[in-house]
Amino acid sequence: MKRTTYLLLLVVLLVSCAPKSRSAPYKDPSWPVDVRVEDLLSRMTLEEKIGQMTQVENNSISPYYLFPPSEIAKYFIGSVLSGGNSSGYYSLADWTGLAKRYEVEAVKTRLGIPLIFGVDSVHGFGHVNGATIFPQNIGLGATRDPELVRQIGQVTAEEMRAAGIPWNFAPCVAVPQDIRWGRAYEGFSEDTALVTELSSAYIQGFQTVPKGYGSSDGQILYALATPKHYIGDGGTSWGSIHQYMYHQYMLDTGDTQVDEATLRRLFLPPYQAAVNSGAMSVMVSFSSWNGVKMHAQRYLLTDVLKGELGFQGFVVSDWGGINQVNPDYYKAVVTAINAGIDMNMVPYYYQIFIDTMKQAVMNGDITQERIDDAVRRILRAKFMLGLFENPYGDPRLAVTVGSDEHRALARQAVRKSLVLLKNDNNALPIDKNVSTILVAGINSTGVQAGGWTLDWQGEQRNTLVGTTILEGIQELVGPNSQVLYNSLGQFASFSGKAPVGIAIVGEVPYAEGMGDRADLTLYNVHLTVINALRPKVDKLIVVILSGRPLVITDQYQTADAWVAAWLPGSEGAGVADVLFGDYLFFGKLPYTWPRSNDQLPLNINNSANLTGCAAPLFPFGYGLGSAGSQPIEWLNCQ
Ligand code: BGC
Ligand code: BGC
Repeated sequence: MKRTTYLLLLVVLLVSCAPKSRSAPYKDPSWPVDVRVEDLLSRMTLEEKIGQMTQVENNSISPYYLFPPSEIAKYFIGSVLSGGNSSGYYSLADWTGLAKRYEVEAVKTRLGIPLIFGVDSVHGFGHVNGATIFPQNIGLGATRDPELVRQIGQVTAEEMRAAGIPWNFAPCVAVPQDIRWGRAYEGFSEDTALVTELSSAYIQGFQTVPKGYGSSDGQILYALATPKHYIGDGGTSWGSIHQYMYHQYMLDTGDTQVDEATLRRLFLPPYQAAVNSGAMSVMVSFSSWNGVKMHAQRYLLTDVLKGELGFQGFVVSDWGGINQVNPDYYKAVVTAINAGIDMNMVPYYYQIFIDTMKQAVMNGDITQERIDDAVRRILRAKFMLGLFENPYGDPRLAVTVGSDEHRALARQAVRKSLVLLKNDNNALPIDKNVSTILVAGINSTGVQAGGWTLDWQGEQRNTLVGTTILEGIQELVGPNSQVLYNSLGQFASFSGKAPVGIAIVGEVPYAEGMGDRADLTLYNVHLTVINALRPKVDKLIVVILSGRPLVITDQYQTADAWVAAWLPGSEGAGVADVLFGDYLFFGKLPYTWPRSNDQLPLNINNSANLTGCAAPLFPFGYGLGSAGSQPIEWLNCQ
């Protein structure tokens, strides 16, 4: 309050001293951000303020591309998002056009306040087929390399800004404690310290204006990152069920049942580091804390995040998250906004939200002061992004989207993310001049990439621009080696034994609660692949493409070597680089690897004293080739 009064006085003073010819201070980038914010806020009507707090889904506004989205100006909409679905738009030009289409309408309004467009670029700009798709966070956790993650943040920002989309709902700073969760791969690790280190590196890379970049006047942030989902999203208890359409979520959006000290110890440090690294937006979690929805948790949102942690940015809800607070929509809105949510990801029925907000202000259930606080935070981020000076994308950056340089970075990330679990009989590295290699199983960039790529639930087909692991193998082998491929490992016309076989197995893509799974053993089809290949090869190498450790105990002895490749993204050739020994194995497990389904949830926080058959198959941090890891001692635990 004091700070606000002081700022208002400062504005009045500064504005009255300013040369008469000057435009309104909020339009002038030479004023400090907070002065611009107060000046603009003082000119806004209630409708304009509520509009800033409203974020709508692309598909809910003038769905027909032919008509301009006049609702943007009519309701003073402050933000548009595109959820996981690409709705048929896959090129850079599509996304550039989409963002511009909305922005043009926003800047037409009386005060010309730009809107902010946001998407989930959780491992690169995944809506665009042709963008650079990095390993999902679980793979980056295995690299233990904050500098690499910083660069990935920067490259992702560059590719998004090329399209005029400055806002990313990433990084996910969840600290997943149960790998049965369909979002385990979005978390860097089950270890709080590792998540904290890598996520703040990402934020710094994503938000820092690169040296030598000719930014517009007033631009302080290169792009806007969003640590999510505040707080405890990775700590929910199995069976705290939520029904989503025809699907039962067993962990996702559930209830985190821990005391406050545990909540703070496990899940708060990434947010403190994010705030210290300059994060200016935070997304609230769908989940509850001890039975109360996070979207209603005033203490955690306002007292802890904005107060104690000193967060100056804005809090955005999750997708329709406010609706879950109370079956009575009016009560839900009043509770959530008063709890501290500044922007509502509505996402569809925004007129009802806007009317409800007006009613709540008229009734005195939401104060003008709360509205001003929310709008101030949103405008602050917009000014820092330089959107008032340049609301559109930067076409100069278009050449960088999916460029060789960016793909080289992604390929390097893939190499460093691989964890070698077993390597008997010197199965690895593979000799490039070996006579024959039989490859079976997955051969799809879509499956390699996982969820949040081209579509919310990912894409199983091999349509994502990039290289598969098989293509990488074909690229690297010597001129006299033959590589044969069959998805099911049926090499009927191949007689005799090949020196090397590679089975690529794992999970089909999924996102959110759709990926909640109690049984983490390999699919039957992949058992078939392994069993079909085994008798045809001298040395069998299994590569696992998955969003989490899978239960492989029963197959462990069947193969000579096992490699966890996580969800490497578009540059599958990076896997081949390491299989052939051009690069060394480097990665360490970011999650504890279970021996059986019965052990779950199993993590560093609950497995410290477990030994023998009760212990994990591979402990957290394990990885042959990295310092200190020795092959495991095989135990027969039947
Ligand atoms: C959207 C996603 C969103 C999900 C929420 C999907 O239809 O595409 O972005 O996260 O719904 O449940
Ligand atoms: C997810 C968020 C995501 C949002 C928008 C939600 O369902 O939980 O992580 O940012 O949709 O796509």
